[in-house]
Amino acid sequence: MINVFNKSVFSVVCYAVFFSTAFAERVYEKQGPPRELTTEQADIASGNYQKYCSLCHGENREGYKNDHAPSLKSKQLFEAGIPHSVLRPLSYGRQGTAMAGYLEDVGGPMTLDEVWDLTYWLFWESGAERVKLSENPVLGDAVRGEVVYQENCATCHGVNGEGVNAPALGNQSALAHNKDEFIRYTIEKGREGTPMAAFAGTLSEADIDNVTAFIRSKASGWKAEKPVLNDLPTPDQYVLNPDNADPEFELSEGMYVSSVDLFKAVQDKRKMILLDTRVPSVWQRAHIEGAIPFPYYTDLDDKVKDLPKDVQIVGYCSCPRAATEHIVNQLRGMGYDKTAVLYEGVFGWMNLGYPVVRAEGIVDKITEVQH
Ligand code: HEC
Ligand code: HEC
Repeated sequence: MINVFNKSVFSVVCYAVFFSTAFAERVYEKQGPPRELTTEQADIASGNYQKYCSLCHGENREGYKNDHAPSLKSKQLFEAGIPHSVLRPLSYGRQGTAMAGYLEDVGGPMTLDEVWDLTYWLFWESGAERVKLSENPVLGDAVRGEVVYQENCATCHGVNGEGVNAPALGNQSALAHNKDEFIRYTIEKGREGTPMAAFAGTLSEADIDNVTAFIRSKASGWKAEKPVLNDLPTPDQYVLNPDNADPEFELSEGMYVSSVDLFKAVQDKRKMILLDTRVPSVWQRAHIEGAIPFPYYTDLDDKVKDLPKDVQIVGYCSCPRAATEHIVNQLRGMGYDKTAVLYEGVFGWMNLGYPVVRAEGIVDKITEVQH
């Protein structure tokens, strides 16, 4: 009797210690809100959101409209991420993903004031209260963290953190932009309204540290640098090989051309126009030779005068198709029948080993560390 009693006292004490240390959620101090926007700034930011972001992140910031773009309304992102974990991906993009850089310094369409205002607009729309996060690294056992990662995270984030249907956690620009405590906060609290669950009740405090340390161990010290920007092509350069024959594409679903067929047409120097429908900052980094920047938010009424109707037009993006379909459907509505979308997108094209023109210097450096 006494033994049994003692044993259950022991286990009660054990559970109490277990729950109060291992599974206790941290208490975070609140941080003051960032500056408020004037009505005019908020109106411009809201307009910029619809023009530039809604294609992938959704009209109401809910995410997952295209390309597995994350939610831009979850409280946890804005509690922990304001300003830099929002401002930086928005400004510089995440290399190798569909998220391009929008700041004019890297070839995007927005000024520095506009990216700041959009960052704060998203914060105010989210209704979050900022929390104070330490700048210190999260210390943990990365080897144990990898085991935790493979068991709990790899199905969505990929065995090598490459992102499957969730952000690429091993992405060098994400690692450069996100502090350890921001990553840790996301793991602990999850992201409301998204598939990212809170692991506070499932993983111990120590394992949350360990998996954070494992993610950090993937960082190579990569830093975004200001690229040298190329001049954009002028309308007289739009039509490639103007004196040659048209390509003969058989479009699947009446819309898509395969990389194999497009590459053949490129090699045969067929007469074509190639539209790169991504943000020009990523055209600056790498594009299919001869492609012109024609971003998905182009004002077509203004730009179509430069596009002849009788030349085969092929559009591509990295998404692999959303941005281009958005443009091609509008062009078809305006009578451009000889239009097609590159089925695999530019990443698919590159994965097949087909060539792209890269910007000099900086871009090669980035590609080197990424692989
Ligand atoms: C072509 C699709 C696309 C467009 C357009 C786009 N994004 Fe993204 N965005 C993504 C994807 C995909 C990711 C996740 C990338 C990754 O794997 O890390 C992302 C990630 C982000 C993140 C990081 C979120 C997080 O959870 O860490 C922010 C912030 C962001 N985008 C803001 C914006 C804003 C603001 C705009 C408009 C100016 C925009 N994006 C336009 C596809 C897009
Ligand atoms: C069921 C799929 C799923 C699982 C399992 C999962 N995640 Fe996520 N995770 C997501 C999605 C989706 C997002 C983006 C959420 C959003 O829209 O904000 C995300 C976001 C994140 C982010 C923020 C990334 C950024 O760029 O802001 C981190 C960090 C993260 N997850 C870490 C983990 C870790 C570590 C694990 C395992 C312990 C894990 N996740 C398990 C789906 C998952």
